[in-house]
Amino acid sequence: MAEDFLTLGIETSCDETSAAVVLNGRRVLSNVIFSQIKWHEKFGGVVPEIASRQHLEAICHVTQKALDDAGADFSDIDLVAVTCGPGLVGALLVGVSYAKGVSYVLKKPLIGVNHIEGHIFANFLESSLEPPFLCLVVSGGHSHIVHVGDYGKYEVMGRTVDDAAGEAFDKTARALGLGYPGGPLIDRAARSGDENAIPFPVAHVRGEDFSFSFSGIKSAVLNYLNRMRLKNLPVVAEDVAASFQKAVVDALADKTLAAARKKNARTIALAGGVAANSKLRHELSARAGSDFAVHFPPAVFCTDNAAMIACAGYYRHKGGENSSMELNAHATLSLF
Ligand code: KG4
Ligand code: ZN
Repeated sequence: MAEDFLTLGIETSCDETSAAVVLNGRRVLSNVIFSQIKWHEKFGGVVPEIASRQHLEAICHVTQKALDDAGADFSDIDLVAVTCGPGLVGALLVGVSYAKGVSYVLKKPLIGVNHIEGHIFANFLESSLEPPFLCLVVSGGHSHIVHVGDYGKYEVMGRTVDDAAGEAFDKTARALGLGYPGGPLIDRAARSGDENAIPFPVAHVRGEDFSFSFSGIKSAVLNYLNRMRLKNLPVVAEDVAASFQKAVVDALADKTLAAARKKNARTIALAGGVAANSKLRHELSARAGSDFAVHFPPAVFCTDNAAMIACAGYYRHKGGENSSMELNAHATLSLF
């Protein structure tokens, strides 16, 4: 592969239109993220049809800005990497079709990337991290504890049996009337709350050492809010947010550290939107002490972005993989 190899990454799996130019897989020359939040927030969540239309309107401008920010031109690009799943199929199709067009016109290789693998690879951006490591992948749709043995080599040690961690954050924020997306709003509200105010339990999954269950805590929050309203007692949203966050983070940290010990891992990495959570970052680092190095990408690389897709695509391509013009979008796409 050329010494100065430029990958154009494209990400449109949900409600962010993103394009990035990444040098040699790890150096981020540009990473443009156009958020659609203002179109979705009044509905309390992502509306798939709106997402597809907004991606269509934004994709050319976002990509051109990514090239401009990187001081590059289309003709400088060596590889086009695009998220092909999992995600909203109509939204994914915009990115996949656009990436195919760019690859065809430039006569440059195309590579379809699994969004979850992209989140894991965010850890390599602007860093010298190398596998093996243990990775906690926590996003709006996924909660997995994965041992990354090598590039593209994964062993799932545990997963959620119901809701994803991000989903629990979003639903709890909605119940509290905080707005959308819930994770960052809970994170912020929790800072001025008492995390020991309400003892919300997180269910343990019997016989499954490293698995999670988050649907129970969501119901516990709803039951608490209903009880308070029936008794005409005031709800301190900050206390609920902090107590909820503590319960979720405790469960994530306990299981992740136990899995890391079992694997004799030396490094724990965090990936996915929930990895931006300040309490999760703090708690894992504190509990890991000197037993493990804890690695987390800057928040902007944790939530959806195209730089992580360029990185994952670069390493797949380096390993000899390419996609054809038959590449399609997949709402569900398993990595593990
Ligand atoms: O990875 P991501 O951007 O999109 C998916 O692939 O799902 O993750 C989005 C999820 C949302 O549920 C959002 O509420 C959550 O990540 N999130 C957070 C924080 N920032 C984003 N959750 C907790 N604390 C945060 N600071
Ligand atoms: Zn994501």
